[in-house]
Amino acid sequence: MATILDGKALSEKIRAGLKEKLDRQMSRGLPRPFLTTMQVGGYLPSTVYIRAKQRACEEIGIGFRHYKLPEETSMDQLREAVSEVNQDSSVHGLLVQSPLPPHLDEIAVQRMVKPEKDVDCFHPENVGLLYIGQPRFQPCTAAGIIELLLAYGYDPAGKHAVIVGRSVIVGRPLAVMMMLKQRGGNATVTVCHSLTRDLPSITRRADVLVPAIGAAEMIRGDWVKEGAIVVDVGINRVPDASKKRGYRLVGDVAFGEVEARAEAIAPVPGGVGPMTVAILATNVMRSAGFDVG
Ligand code: GUN
Repeated sequence: MATILDGKALSEKIRAGLKEKLDRQMSRGLPRPFLTTMQVGGYLPSTVYIRAKQRACEEIGIGFRHYKLPEETSMDQLREAVSEVNQDSSVHGLLVQSPLPPHLDEIAVQRMVKPEKDVDCFHPENVGLLYIGQPRFQPCTAAGIIELLLAYGYDPAGKHAVIVGRSVIVGRPLAVMMMLKQRGGNATVTVCHSLTRDLPSITRRADVLVPAIGAAEMIRGDWVKEGAIVVDVGINRVPDASKKRGYRLVGDVAFGEVEARAEAIAPVPGGVGPMTVAILATNVMRSAGFDVG
């Protein structure tokens, strides 16, 4: 049986630590950290993720406000809303939830957010700083994956890390972070994607395997090397009539098969998801001037 990389438990521990730091440093005069989130339209998974972010902020003591804008919001209207938050000095973090409706240009929106408030690390300036090894903010999911590995003693240094997926949110920043000469880095990184030939032959060579593609249970047991460390990032809904809500969440790996071969595995749910939220809260506090280590 594989070790379960329990992101839920580790996230709780990190959030408890943040709460303590917040109380201590606010008593010395720092302002209350504040996160604003924006969502355009009603995409349901986004609503669920934002609620998780709100709960974490409220529990730690971080101020939180969510703007839910109508589906038909134009670029100009969104620019106006972002600009207002950019100028509000009481807000330290601004997160525009992805995905946006197709009529909005996601990259252009990411560039509108003031880099000093870009707690997602999506703005090109912050992506560049990450790339040169001097990050202003940690990209939340990628950093969450690395912290989860390190907490269980699985340092990527020297290992072959195979990332499946090249998204701007996960695959690309994770590849950079794991490659850099820094804590949690120093791995030999392979990035696979939809045009990769003979994917199983590459995933089988991974010491650390990180599927982040959003394809339910695509990675089968025989795609994974005996003793590999697997961090499943996929969050996929599959119909399930036995559940009240009509679906269940599964990752990108076929859990039972892969668990039988892996040394350790981060499950879905309860693995990477909660870690993302803990890193986001860390970023908001850092943005407000807190020493978060
Ligand atoms: N959509 C899925 N994950 C994320 C995230 O970490 N940040 C934002 N802004 N949108 C997302």
